[in-house]
Amino acid sequence: MEQQPHRPVRVERRPVSEQESRRANGPDWDNYADEYQATHGEYLGDVGFLWGPEGWTEEQLRILGPDLAGKDVLEVGSGAGQCSRWLVSQGARAIGLDLSHRQLQHSLRIDDQSGFAVPVVQGTGTDLPFADAAFDIVFSAFGALQFVNDIEHAVAEARRVLRPGGIFAFSITHPTRWMFPDDPSEEGLVASQSYWDRTPYVEVDDETGVVSYVEHHRTLGDWVAILAGAGLRITRLEEPEWPEGHERIWGGWSHIRGKYTPGTAIFVATT
Ligand SMILES: C[S@@+](CC[C@H](N)C(=O)[O-])C[C@H]1O[C@@H](n2cnc3c(N)ncnc32)[C@H](O)[C@@H]1O
Repeated sequence: MEQQPHRPVRVERRPVSEQESRRANGPDWDNYADEYQATHGEYLGDVGFLWGPEGWTEEQLRILGPDLAGKDVLEVGSGAGQCSRWLVSQGARAIGLDLSHRQLQHSLRIDDQSGFAVPVVQGTGTDLPFADAAFDIVFSAFGALQFVNDIEHAVAEARRVLRPGGIFAFSITHPTRWMFPDDPSEEGLVASQSYWDRTPYVEVDDETGVVSYVEHHRTLGDWVAILAGAGLRITRLEEPEWPEGHERIWGGWSHIRGKYTPGTAIFVATT
């Protein structure tokens, strides 16, 4: 999901470290947060749980199980906390963690407006500041997973804080999208790069030369190996279809592409 460039950037494909990824993406989301919430906040809903641009909700998909009341839940890459707020409205005890201070400020603002409060902490998905076995559910809806380099570490952290039988679920850009330009029109249906090329997508500030945005790619097979390698058992892979009559364009997601190819993958695994 490419960001809207705030300053002129050039796009590169090259390896980047975890430190570099984090140093870029935190400030990038700080800069982008106001525009992001202004553009998508109403669609997300202050107390609403969307799994992705297709518009499918947790209430419809039931990824996290039928009974949420009383569950301890951690959202990684929680943004303004819309998903966690919906979980709180269902009786869960949800906590949000996000890299971006500005996103968390929006989260607190919406808490005040909505009357549903989500405790939040600033941090990274690769280093969770929580005790072992503290949560029944760890999830992320287009949060940190595709922004971290040390993905094995991030998944091991999610596993560590889960109780036995706990659920780890996350949505990401569907790995097959990596082959296509991030373009909602027909142009975005023509494969132009290798699915198997894991070299990260990097935006570099044209003036300063500083890395300003990073996105990482793993194939479907990589994800299976990463989750299994962390001792998790995959129970579901949801590839939500584009709903009939849904016209909203979100970055490279549109009905034009959604008719033919999945834009979102939701992995569900258990300890
Ligand atoms: C697309 S938003 C998803 C949040 C929410 N589900 C939504 O749809 O608005 C991605 C979030 O991931 C956060 N993020 C990026 N890298 C992260 C990391 N390494 N650890 C924690 N959060 C991260 C960003 O700051 C941003 O708030």
